[in-house]
Amino acid sequence: MSEKIYGSLEEEISVLRKKRHAVILAHNYQNDEIQQLADFTGDSLRLCQEAAKTDAEVILFCGVHFMAETASILCPDKKVIVPDIDAGCSLADMVRPEEIRQWKQQHPQGVVVCYINTSAAVKAECDYCCTSSNAVRIVKVIPKNKEILFVPDFFLGTYAKANSGRDDMSLWRGYCPTHVMIQTSEIERLKAEHPQAEFIMHPECGCLTKSMHLADKITSTEGMVKYVRESPKKEFIVATEVGILYRLRKDNPDKTFIMASEHSICSYMKMHTLEKLALALENLQPEVKVAPDLAKKARVCIERMLALS
Ligand code: 13P
Repeated sequence: MSEKIYGSLEEEISVLRKKRHAVILAHNYQNDEIQQLADFTGDSLRLCQEAAKTDAEVILFCGVHFMAETASILCPDKKVIVPDIDAGCSLADMVRPEEIRQWKQQHPQGVVVCYINTSAAVKAECDYCCTSSNAVRIVKVIPKNKEILFVPDFFLGTYAKANSGRDDMSLWRGYCPTHVMIQTSEIERLKAEHPQAEFIMHPECGCLTKSMHLADKITSTEGMVKYVRESPKKEFIVATEVGILYRLRKDNPDKTFIMASEHSICSYMKMHTLEKLALALENLQPEVKVAPDLAKKARVCIERMLALS
């Protein structure tokens, strides 16, 4: 690492970013110092939209593997690199392409909606993609006579089912280990302790069904940033991964945030460091590249989602 030449890693990354004509995209769960220097910080949908429209030659994606894959699918001519290739997603690993093919064989008229937290190989088998910010909207456009399978997040699926009125929707039993540990009892305790606070919740939360009635807003991480900015309230109980605190605090220095669980930390998201960012920009690797045939198939469900977003 050439810290001595550059003075700091931030400076090194800034020089390399220009030299490589790179854009740095960071998810709202990234470490603070990465969010601070990123060109765009956002939720899965916003980062997908930024990737699709960037004119940079290189995309340095600071998120988890399926996010970089999605960028590669949408930008086949660009180099997509990640700081740490091992930053995966346990939820995305909970469904495999052959399982979707099997369901489709049994339900030839059925429609499969996949959360963006899926591999490119799974997306290639699905009809619609969605994120936590548009799942309800996507499910609602599917004709009423079509049976729906929603994969892999059971809790987001439950939320989409409840808010779209689609009783004929089958839900996969996947879950995010980081969101599943958030407990209704803790939310109730915090609400009693902070009666003035608003409670905002991510739909991946494992206690979604039990806590839904307590929430002032159920939304994606970007939805939380917007909701808090526009709310006149000064105190918020937040149910999602702790990385969200960076933007909430930065945008609202006069507001207070209490995490529903301080242990909700995604160890994959936290694998990226400034050292790894600098190395990735220097070496233009590790690269995430989805093979053209697979990318062509997987793009269909993502583009359907983007057209509806
Ligand atoms: P959003 O990016 O849609 O807020 O979802 C967060 C998440 O859990 C990503 O895995």
